[in-house]
Amino acid sequence: MSEEHFKSVISHAKEYGFVFLSSEIYDGLAAVYDYGQNGVELKKNIREYWWKSMVQLHENIVGVDASIFMAPDVWKASGHVDGFSDPMIDNKDSKKRYRADVLIEDFQEKYRVKNQKEITKAKKRFGEDFDLEQFVATNPNIARNNAKIEAIDERLKEGLESGNLHLVKELIEELGIACPVSGSKNWTDVRQFNLMYSTQMSATDGDNKIYLRPETAQGIFVNYLNVQKTGRMKLPFGIAQTGKAFRNEIVARQFIMRMKEFEQMEMQFFVTPGQEMEWYNHWKSHRMKWHLNLGIDKRKYRFHDHIKLAHYANAAVDIEFDFPFGFKEVEGIHSRTDFDLKQHELATGKKLQYFDHEKNESYIPYVVETSIGLDRMFLVLMSNALQTEDLGDGQTRTVLKLPPALSPFQCAILPLVKKDGLPELAKKIMRDLSLDFNCYYEEKDSIGKRYRRQDAIGTPICITVDHDSVNDQAVTIRYRDTMNQMRVSLSELHETIEKEVSMKALLKGLI
Ligand code: GAP
Repeated sequence: MSEEHFKSVISHAKEYGFVFLSSEIYDGLAAVYDYGQNGVELKKNIREYWWKSMVQLHENIVGVDASIFMAPDVWKASGHVDGFSDPMIDNKDSKKRYRADVLIEDFQEKYRVKNQKEITKAKKRFGEDFDLEQFVATNPNIARNNAKIEAIDERLKEGLESGNLHLVKELIEELGIACPVSGSKNWTDVRQFNLMYSTQMSATDGDNKIYLRPETAQGIFVNYLNVQKTGRMKLPFGIAQTGKAFRNEIVARQFIMRMKEFEQMEMQFFVTPGQEMEWYNHWKSHRMKWHLNLGIDKRKYRFHDHIKLAHYANAAVDIEFDFPFGFKEVEGIHSRTDFDLKQHELATGKKLQYFDHEKNESYIPYVVETSIGLDRMFLVLMSNALQTEDLGDGQTRTVLKLPPALSPFQCAILPLVKKDGLPELAKKIMRDLSLDFNCYYEEKDSIGKRYRRQDAIGTPICITVDHDSVNDQAVTIRYRDTMNQMRVSLSELHETIEKEVSMKALLKGLI
């Protein structure tokens, strides 16, 4: 994938009603986006796929919906007031602010691109005999590039973990990193910048600062005992939540990849201390399975262990996707120990312990978290799905090959002409199918044009009602991906569609 492809994704998302800039008629608001009529459906379907896979398919996971506003002391206890910050550096000439670690990671990406070029060249040279694993293990250029990446990792880690940000600045200078805007290397020192937004709770009190939650996880932690007791939950068990989070991202960029207001889908899994690594590995592979079940090429995914662990974690890994701008995090799996519950216990004086009947003792459970950005997952799907296909004879089509169950519409119902009783039959079919699927009805323009419009918004099946349909009670269904067509009787239509496009069919791949 390429920057060119990324530009196509952004313009396609706007042109077809998936994503708009927030307050666009006021020239927009940087790094804040709205979802349009098709985007909101895709987003809802991703959320539903996540929720059902987590809550409905796990008898020991339940959901909550906590408020965005929380008692301000929650964020002191959780460490966010003191520790939720990014290392920032400003370029004195362009006046642009950057995340220092991101500048360095982008620099490392150049070596990864070089490696990829070596591999592509070798693949061409060796043809069918090419052995990727052996090549990567023995090629001296790749070894040299990897050694450089590792050496930079080491030094970045040293600077970030020790809190000595001079080391990070030194590294930027030594690597000769220039500002992408001004091209100059005239940098300020590296400083920490807190990412939480705050506002006032009431108009009258003096000291009433309140934060907009920067993660949904704390809403789960503060409700852990409520849920455990009222749900009579036994370890191990999980609590899931989806909802908005807010971060003052200075380097907000890359469309909906890094936003100031975004949505998370998080699950905290409470386990007996000592069993956390076992569950960490379990969730690591289970979450990767969730991604691959969407039919995305597994070479586009990889795990990436964290260099700098968050203040609450003893192990952490990212699931990264090969976005048009390179491999980046889409989901994090974190072993959060008993950090959060312990901190809330200390801050409130309320016992947050679990009584283990088998062991006959009380303890604070350990937590393994899975945390995925809904908007980022949206971008994964859009950038993976958008294709321009050559149809021969100088013709192309733009098609969005989304997983059928997640597409904004599962089927489109298209009467061939606007007369002869075809619209009436089409609307009757629509009424029946709409009870289970989101259906699109359209009778304007030629059938070819209507197919193309449905391809562009990702509708997996078009149902055409023609003159024969009135007599033989059958319709033609046309598949988005293959463009193959098939005659199906009305009595079998629902079952045929369900097998191909239902959430049930998708979820089956997980069990
Ligand atoms: N509770 C843990 C937590 O919040 P995180 O790695 O900071 O961990 C989890 O965030 C996920 O939320 C990320 O993997 C990413 O998909 C998404 N995310 C984080 N910041 C984001 C932003 N500014 N815009 C869009 N998505 C974001």
